[in-house]
Amino acid sequence: MEKKFRKIGILSSGGDAPGMNAAIRSVTRSAIARGVEVVGIVGGYAGLINENLKPLTEMDVSGIISHGGTTLYSARCNEFKYEEGMQKAIATCKKNDIDGLICIGGDGTFRGATDLSIRGIPCIGIPGTIDNDITATDYTIGYDTAMNTVIDLCDKIIDTSESHSRCAVVEVMGRHAGYIAIETGIALGAVGVALIEMPFDKEALFAKMNALRAQGQQSFIVIVAEGMGSEFGEALTKEIEERTGIESRFVRPAHIVRGGTPTLRDRSLASVMGDKAVDLLLAGKSDLVICSRNNEVIATDIKWALIVDRMFKDKLKDGDLDSFTQEQIDDMKALCAERRAYFENMYDIMLTIGG
Ligand code: F6P
Repeated sequence: MEKKFRKIGILSSGGDAPGMNAAIRSVTRSAIARGVEVVGIVGGYAGLINENLKPLTEMDVSGIISHGGTTLYSARCNEFKYEEGMQKAIATCKKNDIDGLICIGGDGTFRGATDLSIRGIPCIGIPGTIDNDITATDYTIGYDTAMNTVIDLCDKIIDTSESHSRCAVVEVMGRHAGYIAIETGIALGAVGVALIEMPFDKEALFAKMNALRAQGQQSFIVIVAEGMGSEFGEALTKEIEERTGIESRFVRPAHIVRGGTPTLRDRSLASVMGDKAVDLLLAGKSDLVICSRNNEVIATDIKWALIVDRMFKDKLKDGDLDSFTQEQIDDMKALCAERRAYFENMYDIMLTIGG
């Protein structure tokens, strides 16, 4: 094992997420402890293409565990989507004796990792995104911190809403996924949550708000997932005012939710995943993504993870399932059913106890 892996690279790509630094630290220290050198790739796949590298020592990653963002910088790289870009990235690995890569990010990052794996550069992915939209894992690094940031901000918004007897409609990030919205909605006692995974009944929301106001409730909070579209939250705010007479304000915290000190849970998840990724890479494994399933950290085939994602989002293309066995497809279907049941259950709870 030591013979093959003398040096590994680590990169973060896509939207940054709190806890990425904890993963970078874990990978670096875990590899060095096993006698393997580590090189940081600066700026995601673009850094690999442009040979923007920096060697990482144990001291280089000292103290970063508590910092949000990513000290290796991040980017979404178009050039890497094409063969020419990928070949440049491979050339950088060969020229710099990088024997394998650990890639932290979301689905775009894993597509890059699988493309490199197929072309002979062993890669292991670590899920880092606030959106939690990687179906194959129960949790992604950054999700917990983002949710805690949302409830912290909204607790403040609720103070002022209460003083002015208002409703706040808060749009939270999550791209096309409603995980942040539904979890924080429940944690905030929101009167309504709008997310693409569940049908949204506006009339029921107005009726509930009117009934609660009649009972004396002063303030309200409604959480809207970013995936509902950029106009949705503001339009809903106006409609709430019109239909309930309750003065309302629209709030979009946007990227504020993506920064900040990572929570214990994100640091711990990132540390365990980083160590596991190094373990697998040095054991000769490739084309895998580290996942947390039922409180266990496991590894899943990247292609399986990408396709189960498409299945869950109803975006399967012709031929997507062709290379999988019936058992693998059944596992995908079971996981999608689990995720759908999660949303249905959470939504139901929100409707029952929210307000
Ligand atoms: O994927 C993380 C995320 O913050 C999403 O929640 C959001 O839709 C997107 O990235 C925003 O991207 P950008 O930082 O490029 O505006």
